[in-house]
Amino acid sequence: MKTVDTVQALRAELAPARRRGETIGLVPTMGALHAGHLSLIAAARRRCDVVVVSLFVNPTQFNDPTDLTAYPRDAARDAGLAAAEGADLLFAPTVEEVYPDGFATTVSVSELTEGLEGAGRGPGHFDGVTTVVTKLFNMAMPDVAFFGQKDAQQALVIRRMVRDLNMPVRIEVRPTVRDSDGLALSSRNALLSPAQREQATALSRALAVVGEGIQAGGRDAGQLLAPARAELERNGLSPEYLELVAPDTLEPVTTVTGEVLAVIAARVGTTRLIDNFLIHPVAAAASAVADRDERP
Ligand code: PAJ
Repeated sequence: MKTVDTVQALRAELAPARRRGETIGLVPTMGALHAGHLSLIAAARRRCDVVVVSLFVNPTQFNDPTDLTAYPRDAARDAGLAAAEGADLLFAPTVEEVYPDGFATTVSVSELTEGLEGAGRGPGHFDGVTTVVTKLFNMAMPDVAFFGQKDAQQALVIRRMVRDLNMPVRIEVRPTVRDSDGLALSSRNALLSPAQREQATALSRALAVVGEGIQAGGRDAGQLLAPARAELERNGLSPEYLELVAPDTLEPVTTVTGEVLAVIAARVGTTRLIDNFLIHPVAAAASAVADRDERP
């Protein structure tokens, strides 16, 4: 695996493959790679001839400067992990390479970005994501780009952007990878103390409680969410949001009539964590939630 840090070098590396008509897969990341990221790289390896992993801690999507400073970084470790998973090229640009002096353009998706993470992290968050992902698409010109269901709203927003702007890239969304105790893998988990790591398992347990309620025949969102809130409270957590929403529009769901997305954000100490379960309400699909997730 080769590492490049300029757009020019990236394009030079990819040009021969593109001329040969090979498919290029891109896995955008902010580094601190874990098994969730690696599952995306592995999927890209299976599907594409050339696998590019980008590593860029994008400052414009952080609304909180301390969150940006605290974000875990270890480029050498990341390079080793990406290479071991079969990546061909690591693109790790500097902030100056991505945002040169005078940078003045924003790509912004409305509506889908307003609730949940948009409300929790501020309006600039998704603008930062969509702008940098547009740039990464233009830099690498991938045929396929891989994203995680862990960031369900982000994946929807990117799909919408690609559709609305006719971007010539296919978006593949892969299941959430979890630890054996259910905690969704996240680069931010590294910031948790052992006690907080234990507390954090309440997020996925709360979502599981909602799933169980739905499979037991519950349909009223308020009633389904109450025991999930109780599970969080028992663990000393109060969620920033805990909601049932429509999986395609993120509109709030008050009565479950079909597939729903249970979404949660909560701070554990100062670390903000998110998770979601896609739940299909039929008895036979009780295992559907688990089927959509992958364990490392
Ligand atoms: P980052 O948080 O590094 O995540 C990179 C990709 O890995 C995202 O698509 C995310 O959804 C996916 N991912 C994270 N945890 C996962 C898990 N446990 N299982 C499966 N996939 C997981 O998301 C970003 O970076 C940035 O916003 C980015 C898209 C790179 C733009 O800056």
